[in-house]
Amino acid sequence: MSAQSADSSSTPNTTLPNQDLFTKCRNFQDAKRVQAAGLYPFFRPIESTTGSTVVTHGKRRVMIGSNNYLGLTHHAKVQEAAKRAIEVYGTGCTGSRFLNGNLVAHEELEAQLAKFLGKEACLVFSTGFLSNQGALSCLVGKNDVIYSDQENHASIIEGTRVAQGETVKFKHNDMADLERVLQETRGKYEGALIVADGVFSMSGDIFNLPEAKKLADKYNCRLYIDDAHALGVLGPQGQGTEAHFNMMGAADLVMGTFSKSFASIGGYVAGTEEVIHFIKHKARTFMFSAAMPPASAGTVLECLKVVQAEPEHLANLKKNAAKMNRELARMGYNTLGSTTPIIPLLIGDDFTAFAFTQKLYEMGVFATPVVKPAVPDGCALIRTSYMASHTDADLDYVLGVLEKLGKQFGILGNQAKREELNILARDHFGTRLGLAEVPLDSSDASSVKHEEAAVSPLQVSHSRPAAEQKSHVSA
Ligand SMILES: Cc1ncc(COP(=O)(O)O)c(C=O)c1O
Repeated sequence: MSAQSADSSSTPNTTLPNQDLFTKCRNFQDAKRVQAAGLYPFFRPIESTTGSTVVTHGKRRVMIGSNNYLGLTHHAKVQEAAKRAIEVYGTGCTGSRFLNGNLVAHEELEAQLAKFLGKEACLVFSTGFLSNQGALSCLVGKNDVIYSDQENHASIIEGTRVAQGETVKFKHNDMADLERVLQETRGKYEGALIVADGVFSMSGDIFNLPEAKKLADKYNCRLYIDDAHALGVLGPQGQGTEAHFNMMGAADLVMGTFSKSFASIGGYVAGTEEVIHFIKHKARTFMFSAAMPPASAGTVLECLKVVQAEPEHLANLKKNAAKMNRELARMGYNTLGSTTPIIPLLIGDDFTAFAFTQKLYEMGVFATPVVKPAVPDGCALIRTSYMASHTDADLDYVLGVLEKLGKQFGILGNQAKREELNILARDHFGTRLGLAEVPLDSSDASSVKHEEAAVSPLQVSHSRPAAEQKSHVSA
């Protein structure tokens, strides 16, 4: 359990030596070491992109490191809608929605989205990060508590830090552990909120909503689901985690972002009129930050139409995710039992993950490593993710490269390594392997159980560096 609330009026500890504030910057060597080794995988500048392929360092590569699940960034109608919105409203709102930046398009989006999600009301923020931070911090007062999954996204963690109430963590997707902490602590607080990602961003696990809902009811808690990676992906039309489990209305609040399937930027929180009205007048990240730009509002409104009118995008995504899950597991990768378009490949040590990512890049595949402390020491992953717009040729090319490199790095075709990784998976990502039983396109409420890890920013995802290579991915 971690107490929140820092007292800003408290005097500094006078026993500490005086030093330059920037000493820590001078001493920060982690990234420089990886750069010096020629393995730095971050901030690769994209010269152009079709969504599923990118040109970086002058070469075309298959993108398997993005969250553009439905591939809608390049949909003609979506691009047209963005342009139309600029014509009507200009390029920016130049103020917060609260004061002077509220567009008819924002309100239309809120109404349409609430309908799509089966909620009474919805509030659109400028980003998903601000949605989590703002909603959680204003809802959870000093006598309240947040029960937070250990693998929740950084923006949820940020919300729990700003909120005045306390935060109690439970092991990742482990409902027995959630019940244990509820039993031990629920009596100490007034209000309580259980918070979890619907689909976890690094591992692709699906949160065990059915069991969490039972516990929320039993212990008088509200339930908040972050559907950043579930919107557009889970459920018959991509409505998210509730729809996936055929449990519309199970969560009191559903949060999401437009920076993934909905091809833009912005975020939302959806729930009852009463709660959304409260957040609208209390969330500081909503009231004191400029509004989501017009082109984004136009984009997202159109995405919402497209996902309902053109089911082929979700169907393709499911087909591609199923193919990659099946083929990567068949090849012998430990994918932590993913059933979603986010498919982690368990690699082991950080250095190997960096070196593997670099080789992938050189061979025309853009993916992202996940190293400690985002994952436990020795449990580095390569996070791969797939899109509706990947062609079979793209995916086959990626599979070919992954098979070749997997063998070269001793990850495939090596029984001892396979067992070692299986043990790591069991010990550190443990019971999440049961997720293989929850199919991506099901709306059944299969049982899910899991374990922990911790997500944190710098060391997380996003890969890149130098380049070259052949086949259809070469420039
Ligand atoms: C689970 C989750 N929640 C929230 C966010 C924040 O969303 P945004 O990119 O809109 O700030 C992200 C983005 O990475 C995410 O993965």
